[in-house]
Amino acid sequence: MDMPIHADITLHVNGEEHRLNVDTRASLLDVLREDLGLTGSKKGCDHGQCGACTVVLNGRRANACLALAVAHDGATVVTVEGLADDGQLSPVQQAFIDNDAFQCGYCTPGQLCSATAVLDEAARGWPSAVTADMASEPALDDTEIRERMSGNLCRCGAYVGIVAALREAAGEPNEAAADPRAAARRIQEGARA
Ligand code: FES
Ligand code: FES
Repeated sequence: MDMPIHADITLHVNGEEHRLNVDTRASLLDVLREDLGLTGSKKGCDHGQCGACTVVLNGRRANACLALAVAHDGATVVTVEGLADDGQLSPVQQAFIDNDAFQCGYCTPGQLCSATAVLDEAARGWPSAVTADMASEPALDDTEIRERMSGNLCRCGAYVGIVAALREAAGEPNEAAADPRAAARRIQEGARA
């Protein structure tokens, strides 16, 4: 049987440089969890379908289970462990707590990394598939948030709180917080559509 091939790479993770010798078949998720002990990023499906492993890779969100570590030599990675600043929760983390945006918490690290990148994408004016006016900065209303967060599944169904948390963190009027039943209905209708 052929022996595994290893390669030297450098990753900048949550502000720290790591020189690693990785199996060339290893995913970024496995390297983060197994080699660096950063177990915040979760393995849900290991197939790019649930978003539990989402990290911010070179400034953009990515499913770490689908990224080969060896292909990202020199990359900058932010995991859920790197979102807080010196023990101070990030605005997105605080908004998740304030809006009851999780239950079991398994999907939450991926949701938080994804949500952090969504705010950045909207601030940069990047449109989504549901942005009506491509020329103006997209407002993060419920439809935009649901579309942009659609790659992050929550088996506990904490979607109402997640949408509310993003709107709060984005500084948008919080429809879900004002009328949670109506917001839940719209989210269920969207899920069925
Ligand atoms: S574990 Fe990566 S998308 Fe599910
Ligand atoms: S909070 Fe349990 S899966 Fe999302």
